[in-house]
Amino acid sequence: MGKVYDKLMNCLNCVREKTDFVPKVALVLGSGLGDFAKEIDVVYELSYDQIEGFPVSTVPGHAGKFIFGYVGETPVVCMKGRVHYYEGYDISDVVLPIRLMKLLGAEIFFVTNAAGGVNSSFHAGDLMLIKDHIALFAPNPLIGANEEALGVRFPDMSHVYDMHLQDVIRRIAKENDIYIQEGVYTYLTGPSYESPADIRALKVLGADAVGMSTVPEAIAANHMGMKICGISCISNLAAGMSDSPLCHEEVQQAADEAAPKFQKLVSEVIKQFAYLFS
Ligand code: HPA
Repeated sequence: MGKVYDKLMNCLNCVREKTDFVPKVALVLGSGLGDFAKEIDVVYELSYDQIEGFPVSTVPGHAGKFIFGYVGETPVVCMKGRVHYYEGYDISDVVLPIRLMKLLGAEIFFVTNAAGGVNSSFHAGDLMLIKDHIALFAPNPLIGANEEALGVRFPDMSHVYDMHLQDVIRRIAKENDIYIQEGVYTYLTGPSYESPADIRALKVLGADAVGMSTVPEAIAANHMGMKICGISCISNLAAGMSDSPLCHEEVQQAADEAAPKFQKLVSEVIKQFAYLFS
């Protein structure tokens, strides 16, 4: 087995020395879901820096810990804080957490993020169901020797975002009067925001939103056979689409304003997932 696999197993052993909790859903909290912990009946919290070799975030405001517990009847492991490729980590480290959560037992990967709106009918504060992604502009996390224990060399990517889970999200949004957009998320490494010409190019390619996370994790989760679903919080219109320049604080503020409906949607959806395991 290679180094990537050995490191993953070390992290797994490290977590298992501390908790035997078995999650069914792995949830990554993006901007706007910082307070999601209050929706969780917490069983155990584990700070990332207690896991030997685990990548720890450098972004201000991104606290780093796993929260194990229940949302309704559904056992979850929740990542409060994630690492991004632009922080300088190896791409294999960026996807280590999702691989670890799968090995802990998670069958569903629920990913959330803040993203810039590329579709001109979107508004800041909208939520967007991720139907597919564009991954053309950044290194693939599966580059290198394939770990057969994790998945196949050439994974199919025809349905990364599970159709059935998408339907659950649509239904729960409707039942709770939460309007959601739908679209394609484009992943760029960042950390600089895009230029207006980048955004015009992405529009031509079929992008509806753009962001700096999610896709490496989705590729690794798909490789391991997880069912995946995702929601973006459209925190701003992308570069050139409004008069104001982009700044991290405003992105954060818009995500915070959308937080109540975002939290409601994510928690109600996860409660529904309990029926998938019974
Ligand atoms: N571009 C890239 N990433 C982002 C944006 C954006 O406009 N907003 C939030 N994350």
